[in-house]
Amino acid sequence: MKGRIFICDDEEEIRRYLAKLLKAQGYEVETFGGPLELLQALKESEGGADLLLLDVRMPELDGMEALRRIREAHPTLPVIMMTGHGTIDSAVEAMKLGAWDYLAKPFPQEKLYLLVENCLERERLVQENKALRKELRERTASETLVFQSAGFAHVFDLAMRVADSDSNVLILGESGTGKELMAAAVHDHSPRAAGRFLPVNCAAFSETLLESQLFGHVKGAFTGAVKNHPGLLEEAVGGTLFLDEVGDLSPGLQAKLLRVLQFGEFMPVGSNRPRRVDVRFIAATNKDLESEVRQGRFREDLFYRLNVIALNLPPLRERPEDIPLLASHFLARIARKSRRPAKALSAEALTLMREYHWPGNVRELENVIERGTILARGEMITADVLPFRVDCPSIPQTDEQGPLLTLQELERRQVLRALRQTDWNKTRTAELLGVTRKTIDRKVKEFNLTP
Ligand SMILES: Nc1ncnc2c1ncn2[C@@H]1O[C@H](COP(=O)(O)OP(=O)(O)OP(=O)(O)O)[C@@H](O)[C@H]1O
Ligand SMILES: [Mg+2]
Repeated sequence: MKGRIFICDDEEEIRRYLAKLLKAQGYEVETFGGPLELLQALKESEGGADLLLLDVRMPELDGMEALRRIREAHPTLPVIMMTGHGTIDSAVEAMKLGAWDYLAKPFPQEKLYLLVENCLERERLVQENKALRKELRERTASETLVFQSAGFAHVFDLAMRVADSDSNVLILGESGTGKELMAAAVHDHSPRAAGRFLPVNCAAFSETLLESQLFGHVKGAFTGAVKNHPGLLEEAVGGTLFLDEVGDLSPGLQAKLLRVLQFGEFMPVGSNRPRRVDVRFIAATNKDLESEVRQGRFREDLFYRLNVIALNLPPLRERPEDIPLLASHFLARIARKSRRPAKALSAEALTLMREYHWPGNVRELENVIERGTILARGEMITADVLPFRVDCPSIPQTDEQGPLLTLQELERRQVLRALRQTDWNKTRTAELLGVTRKTIDRKVKEFNLTP
């Protein structure tokens, strides 16, 4: 079967004639005498139609209104309008409403065949493209966000659940924790995945430059504005705009952004005609936005608009289980790039990495691995080429210095230290830490500790 075509026209003569022509070309055809009957059939039919031929003028419901309703309920169904009375205006209106093309009656058979064929062919390409994109996305997605810790998995699950909705998402986390990758993952798993994912760094531009980047400008808005220029907001229509470092937005731009979030409306620089856009927003910052709000540096109303769903990415030091996995991920990636076999990490180097406090998080880990690969003399990256030491000052004893650790992480480190000191004698370790031997066994298992 070449495709399934629905024809809707109030004149039976025309219906029969078109059906005969198209059936002879190998299409499956169904005809409808009016839009209401057609809408019902579209709602009920299994596979629906691949293409609809729709008459502009019909008594029970104007074809234009029918088109509007069909586009709403079946946005991907291509429609060819048949304009009967030589009115070019209705053709233009139909195209504006999203018709794929139009046929002015009376039309030669060849024109009908060509149009139908082109339309179905394009539809096939669109579908194929979609399938390919999906495949590509799944392939790259499985290569990107790497984790096995329960802490990160929890946030990831939440992210995948909100991906489906159109809610704005705020991603919080220290520098290098993967905020941008997470934002991209949300986009990739959203219904907007076929649209664009556009990141914009709110900290990287001056206020005026950022405004024109975001909202675009019209010709003559300022010296050098020689023509209209669409902003990122317009380019992201149907997709996602990622507002990185959103905590650095100036008060003026915060107000303008708020308007977009509230009303879906903005004005290009130099224009006083508001435009509407359909964009999803994901924002990220490594600032404590709530404290920025309290100190009057960030608008509270904007904060609440952005913070519909918050994703808190845990720092790497709180999820040491992810370190070995991430390390091999980066080792493999470097190997692929340089077309050499991947190097390995010595056990000592890995232990060291698990104990380090990673202020630069995953990005720092990536750098360390890259540097280690270069500096390693053999196939093994050893502890001595790592840029930090075993008795790393980040392991707090009783002092108040260094970053705060979770109790669990503190516990893991203490147990590991004691095990090392006693050469993995668990009874001695238990004595040292004032717990039972059983507890040590349990902790070793829980933290996945190995000599
Ligand atoms: N879970 C992860 N799996 C694989 N790669 C990761 C992961 N998290 C982060 N990365 C990598 O680490 C680097 C930093 O990640 P990203 O840019 O997303 O962090 P960020 O939180 O946006 O940082 P910043 O606040 O500095 O902008 C990137 O190269 C990214 O590919
Ligand atoms: Mg970032």
